[in-house]
Amino acid sequence: MPPPSPRRLARAIEAWFLKARRDLPWRPADPAAARDPYHCLVSELMLQQTQVSRVIERFETFTARFPTIESLAAADAHEVLALWSGLGYYRRARLLHAAAKAVVSEHAGEFPTQPEQIQALPGVGRYTAGSIASMAFHARAPIVDGNVARVLLRLHADGSPQTASNTQKRLWAQAQELVNAAEHPGVLNEGLMELGALICTPRSPACDRCPVRAHCAAHAQGRQHELPTPKAPAVQRELFCDAVRVRDARGRVLVERRPDSGLWGGLYQAPTRESADRHARLPELRAWIGAESLDRSQRFTHQTTHRRVSFRVWETSPVRGMGSGERAWKSRLQLGSLALSTPQRRILLPGLSLA
Ligand code: ADE
Repeated sequence: MPPPSPRRLARAIEAWFLKARRDLPWRPADPAAARDPYHCLVSELMLQQTQVSRVIERFETFTARFPTIESLAAADAHEVLALWSGLGYYRRARLLHAAAKAVVSEHAGEFPTQPEQIQALPGVGRYTAGSIASMAFHARAPIVDGNVARVLLRLHADGSPQTASNTQKRLWAQAQELVNAAEHPGVLNEGLMELGALICTPRSPACDRCPVRAHCAAHAQGRQHELPTPKAPAVQRELFCDAVRVRDARGRVLVERRPDSGLWGGLYQAPTRESADRHARLPELRAWIGAESLDRSQRFTHQTTHRRVSFRVWETSPVRGMGSGERAWKSRLQLGSLALSTPQRRILLPGLSLA
């Protein structure tokens, strides 16, 4: 089978995307219309490592509260984090905030139009820069992420390891050829993403509905299920957390704020001890929180991409002085507007839906 012609592939993907694309809040009614680059930045950062269904819920709330890049740049960091609540990977929220500030301070509030300038913004890598430049400014900038890589590796029946630098180089070159041959760069790029998300899926690709099946070497060889070659599984780290829920007579709960960097950086939580080796022993926990007795109320595990976090939740009554220093009492209403991780939301706001 000869290598597929970029022009045919690009045209087939664009035509398919115009018919099959999902209606998503960050996509304008006219797929070829130039997009608001700020909206592209928000949706692309939200979509990094987060499912589309979760982003759908958050994108509109976020852009309604911060409709312009200036309004985001001027926002309070806590409010930005609070609106990010439930999306995970909170570092992205800080980077988005920093990117907005950089556009205001370094580009006088005008979103930069060149892929290299966009890539210089905090939180923006080559993929995100290509995506924004092509969707908002019609730039012929390529994109390669996990979805696009899978599509390209299958089209070329390429079994080489996906993360190897020469494979990556080849994939970016192929993506560049496709975007060069496209009628509309943004439509082609978003079509590639959509093809990977809806048709050329990791486990059961829907080849019968694929617009480029006739050009696909993996399909021709019946190897679509074995390509791309699976990566070696990532090493899962464990974390052991003991969280103490303290409620006072007025129904307020005790919270503390996590350090700015690292896992769940800057988010609020019930006072929590954590260790990479084991759960805390009861006497240690009692001494640490300053309570005579602790009752165990709940146990659950929370899975992140790189960690399995095992939570034990304890209850105790308030003791004078607990709300001083690094800790504070918050009402249920106040808790609702604090930035909390998904597991801490489960601990501090039980009964509310987990976002
Ligand atoms: N993933 C990354 N960008 C996307 C987009 N614009 N639409 C759907 N999924 C995406």
